[in-house]
Amino acid sequence: MPSKPDAMTDTLDAPGGTPAPDATGARPFISVKNLKTYFEIRGSVFDRLMGRDAGTVKAVDDVSFDLAKGEVLGLVGESGSGKSTLGRSLLGLVRATGGSAVFEGQEIVGLDERSLRRLRSRMQMVFQDPHAALNPAMTIAQSVGHPLKIHKRAKGAEDQRRQVVAALERVGLSPAETYMDKYPGDLSGGQKQRAVIARAVVLDPVLLVADEPVSMLDMSVRSKILQLMIDLKQKLGLTYLYITHDMATAKFFCDRIAILYLGRIVEIGEASALYAAPKHPYTQALLEAIPDPDPNHTLPRNLPRGEIPDAAKPPHGCAFHPRCPRAFAPCGWEIRDLTGLLEARWAGMAEADHQAERALIGTPKIPDGPEAASRLPAASGDGAALLALLEKIRAEDPAEPFWTGVKAMHAEAGHVTIDWHTPVTPRLIAGKGTAAACHLHDPALAAHLPKAADGA
Ligand SMILES: Nc1ncnc2c1ncn2[C@@H]1O[C@H](COP(=O)(O)OP(=O)(O)OP(=O)(O)O)[C@@H](O)[C@H]1O
Ligand code: SF4
Ligand SMILES: [Mg+2]
Repeated sequence: MPSKPDAMTDTLDAPGGTPAPDATGARPFISVKNLKTYFEIRGSVFDRLMGRDAGTVKAVDDVSFDLAKGEVLGLVGESGSGKSTLGRSLLGLVRATGGSAVFEGQEIVGLDERSLRRLRSRMQMVFQDPHAALNPAMTIAQSVGHPLKIHKRAKGAEDQRRQVVAALERVGLSPAETYMDKYPGDLSGGQKQRAVIARAVVLDPVLLVADEPVSMLDMSVRSKILQLMIDLKQKLGLTYLYITHDMATAKFFCDRIAILYLGRIVEIGEASALYAAPKHPYTQALLEAIPDPDPNHTLPRNLPRGEIPDAAKPPHGCAFHPRCPRAFAPCGWEIRDLTGLLEARWAGMAEADHQAERALIGTPKIPDGPEAASRLPAASGDGAALLALLEKIRAEDPAEPFWTGVKAMHAEAGHVTIDWHTPVTPRLIAGKGTAAACHLHDPALAAHLPKAADGA
């Protein structure tokens, strides 16, 4: 594996785990504040006729960070966490719907297309799939030279050729003449990704957003491409936003890392601090899931329980709470969590027992937002029998985090009412090392901590 690059700019810890402006007090190279990119989901024709809103996916939801010149910031998270949308929003390839992203003093959110196009020569993207990123009908020289044409940066054919040769040589496609007239189909995966990188650097950008640049390449060439990116960073003074779901490569490639979950940063800080002492349970789970290269070691693979939730209907409070092994009272418990818990319980039960419990429990209404109390219908009409069943389920597994969110349960005619603890949405709290958005690290919520979680 290549060695980790030296950070070209030291960063100072500031609230939110973001670097302060550099030591000269100058403005940050990139400053992102409360950035939001929401997608309206188009429902069916029937939904639209009925005036029904199909929902909104908050792909990037209130994200803030600064990026210093020469820094490598990793964006890490599972599929659907909003990594690509955040990277694309910064380049204006997707329009952010709110907040601010200032690049070298220029606000990008709401910028007109012409100004954006001008800025884009300074900010380039390297995509995941080199096979799809190159036009199969264009020679490598045409593809790599294309941005020069678009941005009118070549003084005639000879100058264009000279710049393309320089870019190809820079990425190790040397001698360039060997590759200029080839088509993407003639190149290996690694060579194609080098050509994609050549196209990204041909305009001398200052920022590269690299979206999983090695995930589709063979293992054997991944470290070579990463080493190339490190060399280019040092030679060309580049700053990187490095998008990946792979904690192992992020560790040696990034100066700082932001962990994303359902569109929000849940932890951010220096890579060394984040790996040495992760604070957020999601970061801890991602780190525990890194496969150990030594086949004699079997590491626990404790990826959080359950699936990533539907992004259009995220869980209340902390969006991670349904999967969090340490969730407690203020984390956002709701009736959907009870249905999830029952389904998991029934999946492991004998059919007759499952049917007996099902016969008591009706289908609750799922509200659009948090509610102080929920009503669980008794399928048999007997609220007291339903309450007895819920108490039995709790007694069988009192350590299940769900029960910390239940303030009280009352049997009523035909249903049980469940009173919830008030959900609180976590905010990033700067601590030693990293900043984490988790109530375990919020002194204001310490009073709610269950005994076993004290001292977290
Ligand atoms: N154009 C779009 N219209 C509607 N929803 C979108 C659009 N683009 C992304 N999304 C949704 O936004 C969320 C974030 O998607 P995004 O592609 O940014 O995630 P990601 O972290 O890059 O995932 P992956 O690791 O799979 O590439 C997902 O729920 C996705 O379905
Ligand atoms: S706030 Fe912390 S403890 Fe609560 S669910 Fe989220 S990650 Fe877990
Ligand atoms: Mg992506």
